[in-house]
Amino acid sequence: MQIENAVALVTGANRGIGLAFARELLARGARKVYAGARDPVAITQAGVEPLRLDVNKPDDVAAAAELASDVTLVINNAGIGQPGGFLAADSEDVARRIFETNFFAVLRMSKAFAPILKANGGGALLNVLSVASWVNGGELAAYSASKSAAWSLTNALRNELALQKTQVLGLHMAYVDTDLTRGLEVPKSSPEEIVRRALDGLESGLDEVLADELTQQVKQGMTAARPSYLPQAS
Ligand SMILES: NC(=O)c1ccc[n+]([C@@H]2O[C@H](COP(=O)([O-])OP(=O)(O)OC[C@H]3O[C@@H](n4cnc5c(N)ncnc54)[C@H](OP(=O)(O)O)[C@@H]3O)[C@@H](O)[C@H]2O)c1
Repeated sequence: MQIENAVALVTGANRGIGLAFARELLARGARKVYAGARDPVAITQAGVEPLRLDVNKPDDVAAAAELASDVTLVINNAGIGQPGGFLAADSEDVARRIFETNFFAVLRMSKAFAPILKANGGGALLNVLSVASWVNGGELAAYSASKSAAWSLTNALRNELALQKTQVLGLHMAYVDTDLTRGLEVPKSSPEEIVRRALDGLESGLDEVLADELTQQVKQGMTAARPSYLPQAS
C-alpha cells in the first residue's frame, strides 16, 4: 500500500519505534496519523491525532475503533519485554503479562480494525515482531515466546485477511536503540532506519521485512544443517 493519503494508526506512538513510525508516516504524506498512547499527554509530536489507547484495555480498543473509523493502516507496535528465563520463580506471571500486550492485544486490535480496513478498501496491517520470533536464548524467554506467538498470529491473519485484500506485513529486527534496550552493550539499529525499511517494504507490497543483517542471517540459518535456533558451537 502507499503511505501518501493513508490514514494510519500507530500503537505505542509516544516514544521509541512507534514515535519514529508516526514521524515517518507524516513525512511520507499520510493524510492522518492517529498516535495511540496509554497517556495521550505523552504525545508531543506535532501533526498527529493523539488517541488514548491502552491496548490491554478492551474498552480503549473499542473506543479507538469507533473514533478512528477512517483508518487504512494499523501498526501494532506497542510491546513490552522483561529479562529472565522460564525457570525463574515468577516466570508464569511474567509470561502472562508479556503475552497480554505482545500477543493478546495484537489479536484484539486486529479483530477490532479488520472490518474498518475492509470498509476502507483493504489497507494494511503491520505487526512489529522481532528476530526473537525465531530464536530463544533463554535470557528473554517469555518475550521471545510472545513474539513467536505474534509471528504465528501474523501469518494466520495474512491468510484470513487476504479475502478482503488487506496486506499483512511482519516486521522482524534485532536490537534497536530505544528505552527497551537501554543499558545493553550490543550493536543497535536506529528506530528511524528500521522504520524506513519497514515502510519501504510496505509500499513495495511485501509480506515480511527483515530490517537488519543479523535478522537476515538468523532467518537464513533456520534451514542450515545446524539451525540458528539451536545453540551454536562457540
Ligand atoms: N528495541 C528493540 O530492540 C526491539 C527489537 C525488536 C522488536 N522490538 C519491538 O518494537 C516495539 C516497540 O518497542 P520499542 O523498542 O520502541 O520499546 P519502548 O521504547 O519501550 O516503547 C514501547 C512502547 O509501547 C507502549 N506500550 C507498552 N504497553 C502498552 C499498552 N498496554 N498499551 C499501549 N501502549 C503500550 C509504551 O507506552 P508507555 O510509554 O506508556 O510505556 C511505548 O510507547 C515492541 O513491540 C518491541 O517488542 C523492539
